[in-house]
Amino acid sequence: MLQEISLLRSTIETDIRALEQSKTKDAIEQFRLKHLVRKGTLQDLTDRLRDVPKEEKPAVGKELNALKTLTQNEFERLNEEFSATTATQATIDLTLPGRTLEAGAKHPIRQTLDEIVSIFTGMGFAVSEGPDIEDDFHNFEALNFPPDHPARDMQDTFFMETGGKTEGKSAAHSDVLLRTHTSPVQVRQMLHQKPPIRSIMPGRVYRNEAISARALAEFHQVEGLYVDKNVSLAELKGTLVAFAHQFYGSDLKYRFRPSFFPFTEPSAEMDITCFLCDGKGCRICKYSGWLEILGCGMVHPNVLKAGGVDPEQYSGFAFGMGIERITLLRSGIDDIRLLYDNDVRVLKQFV
Ligand code: PHE
Repeated sequence: MLQEISLLRSTIETDIRALEQSKTKDAIEQFRLKHLVRKGTLQDLTDRLRDVPKEEKPAVGKELNALKTLTQNEFERLNEEFSATTATQATIDLTLPGRTLEAGAKHPIRQTLDEIVSIFTGMGFAVSEGPDIEDDFHNFEALNFPPDHPARDMQDTFFMETGGKTEGKSAAHSDVLLRTHTSPVQVRQMLHQKPPIRSIMPGRVYRNEAISARALAEFHQVEGLYVDKNVSLAELKGTLVAFAHQFYGSDLKYRFRPSFFPFTEPSAEMDITCFLCDGKGCRICKYSGWLEILGCGMVHPNVLKAGGVDPEQYSGFAFGMGIERITLLRSGIDDIRLLYDNDVRVLKQFV
């Protein structure tokens, strides 16, 4: 009997070595069926333990148990190793193409804004910001919009509901509003800083307008303000022409048209020749050959006063431009809403 056990041991050991070479699910299962089930080799020997003479039983039993434990342990080890390798094989498919990471890019409005900011900071302007939620004083009154003057209708305003109405103001309006332009930041800047002031002020502005291909209720402007002794109209023109040359190209033609803003006197609007049709007239410039790009003027003495600056000692110029408008003109897109849909197919063209 001991001899049979040792024979079985060498069979099992050979089987295990074979399994080490090819750990297939099938081979492992065959091993189990051959040795470890009720009709298997080990049970067969165990059954025949009955016929072993009593005095030999302990030694034979011991030997047989040792072989059983060994076989069981080896089976479990091999089975585990097999599942571990198949698990990793299942999750890693080396033939799959790699995943590429899509790089983000700046939004076209941000690109325009950054470019404008860098041109003006290059000319010595600082950058400052003001709040989107303004009051009547900064958005209108200090900018020389007289109360109940039709000039206030130039920009349809979103007023905020604040509960109580402010005394002396038009009964229908509260005093708190979403700024309709970045010009209130001029006033804040003057109240905050003694001249010389040379700042640009980018930000979001809001107007109660029907949304269309040309207008949104929310857009961006960059304001500019220069206040010092003897600031002249010539400097205003020189600064804006230098900007336009850097931004649109040095061969551009421009013109200043007289205009009106309550907070500047004199006031003007700057046009450049349409760079899409080279001034010949096209859909984008509405067949005029010119594109209006900004409003500007010499800061009105009343505005300097409201900002705590003495108009006898100081003068200044200011300008304001719409970022969306400039971005659209440059790219030849004719619907402003495309800038806000965030359709990747559109945005990708600005990378
Ligand atoms: N605030 C004016 C607007 O929104 C632009 C402007 C700014 C004009 C500064 C003159 C001076 O249209």
